[in-house]
Amino acid sequence: MGPSSSCCLVLITMITVAMITATSYVHAQRGSGGGGKCIAAERAALLSFKAGITSDPAKLLKSWRGDDCCSWSGVRCGNETGHVVGLDLRAAFFLSNETFVWCFSGVAPNGMLGEISSSLLALKHLKHLDLSGNYLGGVGLPMPSFLGSFKSLTYLNLACMNFDGRLPPQLGNLSRLQHLNLATYQENTMRPGDVSWLRHLGLLRFLDMSGLNLTSNGDWVRLVTGLSYLKVLQLGGCGLSLPHEPTAHSNISSLEILDLSSNRVDTINPAYWFWDVRTIRELQLGRNQITGPFPAAIGNMTSLEVLTLGGNYISGVKSEMMKNFCNLRWLELWSNEINQDMAEFMEGLPRCTKSSLHILDLSATNITGGIPSWINHWSNLRSLQLSANKLEGLIPLEIGKMTNLSTLYLDNNQLNGSVSEEHFASLASLEDIDLSYNSIHITINSDWVPPFSLYQALFARSKMGPHFPLWLKGQSNVYFLDISDAGITDNLPDWFWTVFSKVQYLNISCNQISGTLPATLEFMTSAMTLDLNSNRLTGLLPQLPQYLGTLDISNNSLSGPLPLIFGAPMLTQLVLSINKINGTIPSYICELKYLEVLDLSDNFLVGKLPRCSNGSEAKQELNMSPDSTQMQLSALILYNNDLSGKFPEFLQHCQELTLLHLAHNKFVGELPIWIAEKLPRLSYLQLRYNLFSGSIPVQLTKLENLRYLDLAYNRISGSIPPILGGLKAMIQGNSTKYTNPLVWNYYRPRNPNDFNDGYYVKYHNSLLVVVKGQELYYTSTLIYMVGLDFSCNNLGGDIPEEIASLVGLKNLNFSHNHLTGNIPEKIGLLRYVESLDLSFNMISGEIPSSLSDMASLSYLNLSFNNLSGRIPSGNQLQTLGDPESIYIGNYYLCGPPLSRNCSGPEAIFWGELSRCLRTELKPSTDVIIKDIDHFDREPANGLNAHNR
Ligand SMILES: *[C@@H]1O[C@H](CO)[C@@H](O)[C@H](O)[C@H]1NC(C)=O
Ligand SMILES: *[C@@H]1O[C@H](CO)[C@@H](O)[C@H](O)[C@H]1NC(C)=O
Ligand SMILES: *[C@@H]1O[C@H](CO)[C@@H](O)[C@H](O)[C@H]1NC(C)=O
Ligand SMILES: *[C@@H]1O[C@H](CO)[C@@H](O)[C@H](O)[C@H]1NC(C)=O
Ligand SMILES: *[C@@H]1O[C@H](CO)[C@@H](O)[C@H](O)[C@H]1NC(C)=O
Repeated sequence: MGPSSSCCLVLITMITVAMITATSYVHAQRGSGGGGKCIAAERAALLSFKAGITSDPAKLLKSWRGDDCCSWSGVRCGNETGHVVGLDLRAAFFLSNETFVWCFSGVAPNGMLGEISSSLLALKHLKHLDLSGNYLGGVGLPMPSFLGSFKSLTYLNLACMNFDGRLPPQLGNLSRLQHLNLATYQENTMRPGDVSWLRHLGLLRFLDMSGLNLTSNGDWVRLVTGLSYLKVLQLGGCGLSLPHEPTAHSNISSLEILDLSSNRVDTINPAYWFWDVRTIRELQLGRNQITGPFPAAIGNMTSLEVLTLGGNYISGVKSEMMKNFCNLRWLELWSNEINQDMAEFMEGLPRCTKSSLHILDLSATNITGGIPSWINHWSNLRSLQLSANKLEGLIPLEIGKMTNLSTLYLDNNQLNGSVSEEHFASLASLEDIDLSYNSIHITINSDWVPPFSLYQALFARSKMGPHFPLWLKGQSNVYFLDISDAGITDNLPDWFWTVFSKVQYLNISCNQISGTLPATLEFMTSAMTLDLNSNRLTGLLPQLPQYLGTLDISNNSLSGPLPLIFGAPMLTQLVLSINKINGTIPSYICELKYLEVLDLSDNFLVGKLPRCSNGSEAKQELNMSPDSTQMQLSALILYNNDLSGKFPEFLQHCQELTLLHLAHNKFVGELPIWIAEKLPRLSYLQLRYNLFSGSIPVQLTKLENLRYLDLAYNRISGSIPPILGGLKAMIQGNSTKYTNPLVWNYYRPRNPNDFNDGYYVKYHNSLLVVVKGQELYYTSTLIYMVGLDFSCNNLGGDIPEEIASLVGLKNLNFSHNHLTGNIPEKIGLLRYVESLDLSFNMISGEIPSSLSDMASLSYLNLSFNNLSGRIPSGNQLQTLGDPESIYIGNYYLCGPPLSRNCSGPEAIFWGELSRCLRTELKPSTDVIIKDIDHFDREPANGLNAHNR
């Protein structure tokens, strides 16, 4: 489940967005100009262009009427001639006084839609053309080649226009261009191909091709170094690397801004640099694959204002090398190795940075020691990011004097002590704070009114309780709130849902928060992740916010039935396990086309699962298209309920299903033969404690990823198909290629483990697996579990020899059946098996001596069979506990560890006797219960009892 696989669309657009700020380099004035002598042919051309626009949400063309086209908004005419010389229709939006263009992977909020009419060619004197941010491309619509005919153009901005296919090489005809912007978002479908036509654009001062895949342009360095006037070169996310041979003489001598972030640059050896170190002001090399030592030559870049190297693996970064960086505004080093005491690092920075530095990001750089109390001497810092280091000690009170601070990330360190109002006293600009995962107490008076209004408020595992932190009450602009595991034992205050109604990410999990959920959360229109797990919340499942992707209310006290329709059509993860929900599972589940994880385990659900056929009522109500029957479900976890009916039919539409856990329910009937065909990815099939009958379908063998098959405590009959010996995933020991269905990606603004994306991995709801006679919860280790458990069924016949091929097995349990024949001779090949249980069958013959080859064995039970002869010895067998109980009830067995001597006549006698006693000992419930009474949650009486 990749982060972008089928998350809701909103999430995708939030993340793949590339923001292009355009103020510094563009001085194009929007609006009218010129002498008002509009030329009729040019006016007609503009009107044809307007006719090609199908949607104009920002009303850029609203003023395009009347005769004088020179007065139309965005049109500029020459003073003398009256020709149209400029067309500025950028779909920008404004943040404070800067304009931004966003490259969205979906439809831009304010961009025009439509096509660029070739009638524009009539504007023969056009010098300036800016259509950026408008969606005048689209699938099958490449950038029009006629754009290469505007010979007078000096400025061309076509950023974020969503074109498809190739870049027209005709752009190389625009030899007067000084400014060219073709940036797009990174997952675009543009194929720039060979861009060697750039060499004809020798006057370029500004070039932005961010997001275009230039991988095939191997000689890109030679190409751009020919552009000797370049001041700004932006090639972020272009798949580029710096060549590994020293760069020949470069004509570029005035480059000021270079952005090569998110590429494949793997070295910053100065021999490969093509820029002049003295002119460069901004160097962006973040998110590449740079390893090796920090080059001392960087120290000669005395004009540097911006240096971003985050997301690389550079070693030996020392602040002394930056002692000439007097203009430094922005220093980003996250994920590289500093390995220095923080005080030492800060002292190494030149004094002049105390006023210049605005952004300092040293996250995950292995800085140690305490946060120096004189940190406030960097009085202009707006962003201080020290996440995921080894900082210890107290958070100095002086932080509270940094009046310009808007971002403060101290999460994932070893800080301790308490944080009081004084720490925040003057932080009027504070917007984003993350103190998560330290050992701090937040001791703020409930009546304190903060001077700030937070956007991100992240305090995971910071102790704030036992009372709910009332000082948060005024923080109604919070977008990300995490107060999980904060030691809160209190009622959810009645203002909670209204104050935090704007959240996108809300995590209050792992407290003891009580209260009833409101009937609807639909007013939380931004909410994408709500994690309320492990609290004491009560009430029904509310109506959910429209764009919600992840909901976890597991381990609370929700009750009542699930609503017939509960909103949130884009849900990807719905986790309501360990509650008191009753009633049936509504057919609305079928409409959740993006649902990947559905966990309703440990509730009181009854009845049959919905069929999810085309005509379900909920679907008709929602007017969904009837052919969209495929679902994305990859994990369906329903154990410990009272569900009934046959094996769920709707799973035929769930090609992605990896984990199916239906244990401890009342499902009946045969296992369907379509399992293999319809669920090709199934890896974990857990059906224990149900009423399934019939035989084991041989088709299961086709499940190439099946690693755990648990059919225990059912009514399965027939014999064990020898073909099961072909289960591929149980043959391979290596588990790395299997995805763990329990690893969920939660969107989070900060990522303590992997700074490369906005996600952190959460191992959630552990999964029940029975091994070694114990029910164990597996979480991250689930991928290492490989097992077959057919215990307590009515299986007869022999154990097929082929089982010995399943060398990846760790758990093998065929106990409590009617199996006959011998233990397969080659069982010793199963060298990873840790738990082997063949007890309570009618297996006869000798125990194969290969048993002693099972080097991993730590639990063995062969009791109550008809085994005979000498017990093999050696290796692991000697280490198993309670040898008597392993072999008890096999009256022909002899030799150590039993006291029965192999030569004496009584051995034969006991063997005969056991055969007679067999029927009395066999399937008596008492014996079964005795054998398993150390199981945690097994039924107290009989099969399939739902014991909670
Ligand atoms: C056109 O006239 C305006 C206002 O008179 C002036 O600011 C501008 O520089 C002139 N432009 C050209 C290209 O002459
Ligand atoms: C525009 O923003 C810049 C900094 O981003 C600031 O220096 C300038 O004063 C602002 N201008 C106005 C008119 O607000
Ligand atoms: C970029 O293009 C190259 C071939 O030109 C291709 O192999 C590669 O997969 C592309 N990269 C992306 C991210 O599309
Ligand atoms: C830095 O510049 C000085 C003088 O221009 C030069 O002598 C020195 O070698 C340069 N250092 C590096 C590491 O390139
Ligand atoms: C972190 O830095 C310390 C020195 O401050 C060093 O001993 C340690 O090896 C570093 N750890 C890593 C993982 O680099």
